[in-house]
Amino acid sequence: MPDHNGKLYIETVGCQMNMLDSELVVAELRQQGFSLTNDVKEADTILFNTCSVRDHAEHKIYSQLGRLKFSKRARPNQVIGVMGCMAQKDQELIFNRAPHVDLVVGTGQLKEIPRLIDEARHQRGRRMAVSLDRKEGSRAEVADSFESYDPARDPSMRPSPYQAFVRIMIGCDKFCTYCVVPMTRGPEQSRPPREIAHEVKLLAGQGVKEVTLLGQTVNSYKVTQDGKLFRLSDLLELIHDTPGIDRIKFVTNYPRDMTDDLLHAVRDIPKIAQYLHVPAQSGCDEMLKRMKRGYTVGEYREMHARIRETLPGCAISSDFIVGMCGESETSYQKSLDLIRECRFKNSFIFKYSPRPGTKAIDLWADDVPDDVKRHRNNEMLSLQNRISEEDNAELIGSTFQVLVEGISKSARKAQAAEGNDDSFLPSDAISDLTPEPPGPVQLVGRSRCDRIVVFNGNPRLAGSLVDVTISDCSATTLMGSIVTLEQQHCETSLPIVL
Ligand code: 5AD
Ligand code: SF4
Repeated sequence: MPDHNGKLYIETVGCQMNMLDSELVVAELRQQGFSLTNDVKEADTILFNTCSVRDHAEHKIYSQLGRLKFSKRARPNQVIGVMGCMAQKDQELIFNRAPHVDLVVGTGQLKEIPRLIDEARHQRGRRMAVSLDRKEGSRAEVADSFESYDPARDPSMRPSPYQAFVRIMIGCDKFCTYCVVPMTRGPEQSRPPREIAHEVKLLAGQGVKEVTLLGQTVNSYKVTQDGKLFRLSDLLELIHDTPGIDRIKFVTNYPRDMTDDLLHAVRDIPKIAQYLHVPAQSGCDEMLKRMKRGYTVGEYREMHARIRETLPGCAISSDFIVGMCGESETSYQKSLDLIRECRFKNSFIFKYSPRPGTKAIDLWADDVPDDVKRHRNNEMLSLQNRISEEDNAELIGSTFQVLVEGISKSARKAQAAEGNDDSFLPSDAISDLTPEPPGPVQLVGRSRCDRIVVFNGNPRLAGSLVDVTISDCSATTLMGSIVTLEQQHCETSLPIVL
């Protein structure tokens, strides 16, 4: 058994890839004798897993680091580390801005973390492990310097026992002009199908029911193994009959790579979620060109129509950036038009944030004032919410197959505050499953088309598939009740199960 290595505090911001990285780093450190704490004050090791996609995510980390200056003075043995995208992007700058930081570890060097913490504690002095910048070598050299981090997994470290993220590729080669990811996560590299299938099997053996395959542009997945080309559709075919796995999702898709073979796999393999996140980013051709997204609005529309035709029940969601340099009122209105036309299940909307290292920051001034960005963001969000609510209302009366995730966050809060209160409050968050209260409580889960569904039931249903008939909704949540066996036998024709 390894030595006791003290208490570890970790804070994670950003995307699902970061959540997975943190889960894996913590699992590895726990194996080496670290124990987790939620209290930064009692931590011997403090790690920040960072995001660089927008400025304010970095800002928050720098101010948190600033506050730790005094904590480090009080505990000189404390090790403070910055890992992830901001570490790869800012490198030495982190030490300059926060001299009490000991470690800077980029996204492609995460396996070095245990060794570097140990060295920092015992030998003192700063340590940095980062990958090559994209201009510092050939594509192959830079790719080699970014290593996919896939150590053994620890089931107790997953946010939910029934769900797991599985990395299928790292990096991005699309170079959208606003985006820092190709720099912070390096060249696009797909993991071998064999490794992924093995990992999914291990997860299923640990009780996982739903896997979410992760990649920055997950549908660009491409590997040649044993002389055969594996695309995402082939990978899905390879893993879909893993015993124990009920659902397979994948995020995030790149519109140009939404090929028919993939749509057919989603249509024909029952375990695959009827949900596609395919960010449009803008509904204006001039802006898409400026973003270097590689498609026109017409091409996005054509792709969208193809999805609707092949997969009629499939939910589609998107991302939009408002207020990028040069976005006129007319350009912005075209994005609203696209939202009205496509009627996305939901959209993630972001105010443009100029990022060092991107083409956009070098080429164009950030010329849309912040109050205009804010106004566009709010207006776009309320349009999207209105559409989401209208479309959810159309689903009242339908029955959905729901994978139960656990007790809803609001039910848990209510229980904590007043005992067993099972009032109907929408929630999009999963709670952990202990302690188990007696009788039915409000549970939360997701339909096959990725809609959040809340309903009353026994917490023991967590991890199973149940049929829920919808009776009410908000923009983000469907509310309903479990179809009982009795109902199933009495009713001659149940509405569609999606
Ligand atoms: N400013 C604002 N939003 C951005 N995104 C990526 N880069 C930026 C930026 N510089 C958004 C895109 C992407 C999502 C993850 O973040 O919409 O799809
Ligand atoms: Fe960034 Fe574009 Fe790659 Fe997405 S596809 S990660 S927006 S560069």
